[in-house]
Amino acid sequence: ETGNTTVDIGFVNTASCNSAITYIDGDAGILRYRGYPIEQLAEKSSFLEVSYLLIYGELPTTEQLEDFDQKIRRHTLLHEDLKAFFGGFPRDAHPMPVLSSAVSALGTFYQDSLDPFDKEQVEISTVRLMAKLPTIAAYAYKKSVGQPFLYPDNSLSLPENFLRMTFGFPAEPYDLDPDMVKALDLLLILHADHEQNCSTSTVRLVGSAQANLFNSVSAGIHALSGPLHGGANSAVLEMLGGIYDNGGDVDTFVKKVKNKEDGVKLMGFGHRVYKNYDPRAAIIKKSADTILNKDGVSDPLLDIALKLEQVALEDDYFVERKLYPNVDFYTGLIYKAMGFPTKMFTVLFALGRLPGWIAQWREMIEDPQTKIGRPRQIYVGETERDYTPISSR
Ligand code: SDX
Repeated sequence: ETGNTTVDIGFVNTASCNSAITYIDGDAGILRYRGYPIEQLAEKSSFLEVSYLLIYGELPTTEQLEDFDQKIRRHTLLHEDLKAFFGGFPRDAHPMPVLSSAVSALGTFYQDSLDPFDKEQVEISTVRLMAKLPTIAAYAYKKSVGQPFLYPDNSLSLPENFLRMTFGFPAEPYDLDPDMVKALDLLLILHADHEQNCSTSTVRLVGSAQANLFNSVSAGIHALSGPLHGGANSAVLEMLGGIYDNGGDVDTFVKKVKNKEDGVKLMGFGHRVYKNYDPRAAIIKKSADTILNKDGVSDPLLDIALKLEQVALEDDYFVERKLYPNVDFYTGLIYKAMGFPTKMFTVLFALGRLPGWIAQWREMIEDPQTKIGRPRQIYVGETERDYTPISSR
C-alpha cells in the first residue's frame, strides 16, 4: 500500500505507479495535463508551452517560455558524426528504428552529461532531446527518399523548423503553410502525454534501472512502433485504403471485423482506458476539416472514415464493447494531407510524445515513490518436478 502497486486479487487490476503529470477518466472521456483540460490547451496553448508545462509542472511566464524556446533553438544541430550515422541504414529502413537508434546514439556524444541524478545534466539532456528529435525525424525521412539533409534554421519555431527540414530543399526557399504549422502544433499537443501507456511505461521501467534519458526514450520509441499502440495511425490509413480498393464497401468490412475474420480490427477504434470517445479524437476531427477541406485537397478516404465511424457508433457490436474512435483514427488522414508518407506517421506521434516521456522519466528519477516497482506475476506454470534423463523422455 505504498501507493506504488495495488493488486486486487481476483481480477488483477494494477496501478503501476503514482504520477502527478496526466489525469485520464476513461469513462467520462477526460484528459488533463497537470490539471489543465486538453480542450483548453488545444485551443489556447502551443506545443512548446505544453512541453514546458508537462516537464516543469506549471505554465511558463513569458520570460520562462522565451528562455526555453531560445535554449531549444540553440541545440537543434546534430554532431556531424551523428549525421553520418544515417548513412549506415538501408534506404528503405522504416524511420521508427532509425529514430530509436539515432536517439540512443545521440547519448554517446554526451558521455559527460548522462548522470540521471545531476540536475544540470538532466536539464541539458532535456533540451538536447527536445531540440534534436525533430532534426533526427526529418533526417530519417530525407534518408528514406534519398534527398539531401537540410540544416536547421534557428529563426524558426520547432514545428516550422521540422516542416522545413522535412519538405524543404537546399536549392530553394521553403514556403511554410501557416495552416499546416498550426495543425501540426495541435497534433503534437494532443500526443504530448497520456499517463502510463505502453511506451511511457517502457520509458519509466527502463529508466528505473537508472538507464540514461536517451536510452530510456529510445526504448519508448520502439514500444510506440507497435501497431496496437503508436503504429495504429499508419494502420488506419492501410485499413481505409483497403476499403477504398474494395469499392468503399464499409458494410462488408464491418462484417469482417465483427466476425473476427483473420483477426481484422477496426484500427483507430478502442482504447485500454477510454470506454468513451477519446477527447483527442473529437478535437482532431474538428481540425481535420481545416486541412482536408483546403482548396485542392480532397480525400476519398475521409469520406470512408466518416462513414465507418457513423456505422460503428450505431452498431451494437462496437457499442457493447465500448469501442469509440481514439486519437489515431483521424490523425493519419491529416498527416497524409500534409504530405507525409504513412511510415512517418508514428514518427510524428513520437515527436509529440517526447515531452511526456521526458516529464515521466524525470518524475520517476526525482521521486522514488513514483517508481514502477519491479512487476510481479501470477505463476500458472508446472508445480515442482524432478529432472528426467534424456534417455527416458
Ligand atoms: C494508442 O494507452 C494509451 O493511452 C495509448 C494511446 C496513447 O496516447 O499512448 O492512447 C495511443 O495506442 C491508442 C490505441 C491505438 N490502437 C488501435 O487503434 C488498434 C485497434 N485497437 C485495439 O487493438 C484495441 O482497442 C486496444 C488494444 C487499443 C484496446 O483493447 P482493449 O480495450 O484492451 O480491448 P480488448 O483487446 O480486451 O478487446 C475487448 C473486445 C474484444 O472482443 P471480444 O473478445 O469481447 O468479442 O473488443 C474487441 C476485442 O476483439 N476489440 C475490437 C477492437 N478493440 C477491441 N474489435 C474490433 N476493433 C477494435 N479496434
